[in-house]
Amino acid sequence: MTANDVILITGCSSGFGRLMAEDLARKGYNVFASMRETTGRNAVASKEINELAEREGLSLQVVDLDVTNETSVDNAVQSVMDQAGRIDVLVNNAGIACIGPNETMTMAQVQQQFDTNVFGVARMNRAVAPHMRHQKKGLLIHISSGCGRVIIPFLGIYSASKFALEALAESYRYDLSGFGVDSVIVEPGAYPTPVWGKLAQPEVWGQSAQPGDRDRVAEYGEIAEIPAQMGASVLDMFAQPDAPDPKEVGEVVAQLIDMPAPERPLRTVVGRSGPEFADMVNQAAEQAQGELMSMLGLTHLMTGKHA
Ligand SMILES: NC(=O)c1ccc[n+]([C@@H]2O[C@H](COP(=O)([O-])OP(=O)(O)OC[C@H]3O[C@@H](n4cnc5c(N)ncnc54)[C@H](OP(=O)(O)O)[C@@H]3O)[C@@H](O)[C@H]2O)c1
Repeated sequence: MTANDVILITGCSSGFGRLMAEDLARKGYNVFASMRETTGRNAVASKEINELAEREGLSLQVVDLDVTNETSVDNAVQSVMDQAGRIDVLVNNAGIACIGPNETMTMAQVQQQFDTNVFGVARMNRAVAPHMRHQKKGLLIHISSGCGRVIIPFLGIYSASKFALEALAESYRYDLSGFGVDSVIVEPGAYPTPVWGKLAQPEVWGQSAQPGDRDRVAEYGEIAEIPAQMGASVLDMFAQPDAPDPKEVGEVVAQLIDMPAPERPLRTVVGRSGPEFADMVNQAAEQAQGELMSMLGLTHLMTGKHA
């Protein structure tokens, strides 16, 4: 990739997305920082990013984009194409989480998780991939999680959505390798971003991150109290002076963008809390997948270090 490349990122109102948008723009890339409700609840974040771009003379623009709305996705991608003429990198970063035993979540909560974390990515890739195929160049980056490879109890629905994201992202790699388009996955451990605060709030964007079926919660008794204890120990870890720095995720994204395609790994873990477990699964999966692709006679669809 080169410094003039055009990068579109989802979920830039806060957390990893906002940090990486600002960092990549400072590195000289042409960055489109997308978020939903730019004139509503995210108006302040949108204004702050615009002001930063003005102050530092950055190629950094805010685009309105809700990954759960196909019209919004298509309009945003068209608007970037109209302004920049190309999209070289898409970072699928937007994501939500809820915590609690699976059956204490309402179906609306389960569906919202998948609509954002999985179908949102399918919508984004479907809108962007044709432009990348025509350019014969592109990079799809997917912000998954260690929970996309191993299960943390009471993050079951979130985990299921990230497992699905992993399969989607890996299969895009095989689909698109013949077009010079790459697809990679970043698996962060726990980092102090607003997502953890949202888990404890009764309502986030019209939907609770806490279990919606309170009768089922009552039936789980003491077990239903474990998620709050787990959350408290994570927040305690974040309060320590050596807490992980969320900028590390953006740094990994920048390295992947910079890397020549043949050297780019399919999966990159980042963080201190638990990446070794995701790595164990990654190593076993890489070997099994390699043998499967060989048996299928399809190793030519594999790219990067994974090939
Ligand atoms: N922090 C961690 O410990 C951690 C660890 C592993 C993976 N991750 C993943 O990292 C990604 C970023 O999360 P974060 O930690 O930076 O938390 P965050 O600050 O809550 O960021 C999540 C972003 O996604 C956006 N979003 C949610 N629903 C959306 C929608 N329908 N359309 C567009 N944007 C939407 C949020 O926007 P709104 O403000 O509009 O809701 C927000 O900008 C997520 O995919 C998350 O699963 C986080």
